[in-house]
Parts: sequence; C-alpha cells; structure tokens
Amino acid sequence: MGSKWVKVANCGEIAPGGMKVVEIDGIPLAICNVEGTYYAVQDECTHETYPLTEGTLEGHVLTCVLHGAQFDVRTGKVLQPPAYEPVRTYQIAVNGEEIFVVL
Ligand code: FES
Repeated sequence: MGSKWVKVANCGEIAPGGMKVVEIDGIPLAICNVEGTYYAVQDECTHETYPLTEGTLEGHVLTCVLHGAQFDVRTGKVLQPPAYEPVRTYQIAVNGEEIFVVL
C-alpha cells in the first residue's frame, strides 16, 4: 500500500503555538505547531462539529471555543468534556522546509 503526501504548509508559516486550516479531500484539518513539532487533527470538534481552530492551542492541548472541550493534538484523545469521542489525527511528515500530511 502506498501513501500519498499532501503538502500543507512551509515550516515558517505556522508559528509555535499556531495553527493553520487546510482542506484535503473536503475534510478540514488543523495543522498545529507544538514547540516545533507538527500535528494534524480534523478541524471539527466531535461535540458539535465546530471548527477547533477557532479555539486555542496551549502546548498540546487544543480547546474548543464553543463549550470548552479539550483534545490532545498528539493523539486526538479527549482531555475534557463535553466531547467524548476522540478527534481524528493524521500523520505528518516534514521534508526540509515543507510540511506534508501523509494519507
Ligand atoms: S462544539 Fe466543541 S465543545 Fe461543543
């Protein structure tokens, strides 16, 4: 099985603690920079499908602005209700200055 790399950003584009929204195959993803390591999660809160990038990223904790659910961007796990389903995560690859999502 082959994998597809989709370029989503250049490294300088997302500051540490920052996020960028990209859409791949109609699915919005949040590309998160956690102290220089990049993570990708689906940009939809599993509580009421609100964009997580409207919220805040502190360390690896992504907080939904709507009702305060928290997710670990490294694993997608819920850290704080009212969401109880994990958010989908995607593999990231960095090649030189370019960031890719691996599908
Ligand atoms: S939509 Fe995210 S906590 Fe409710």
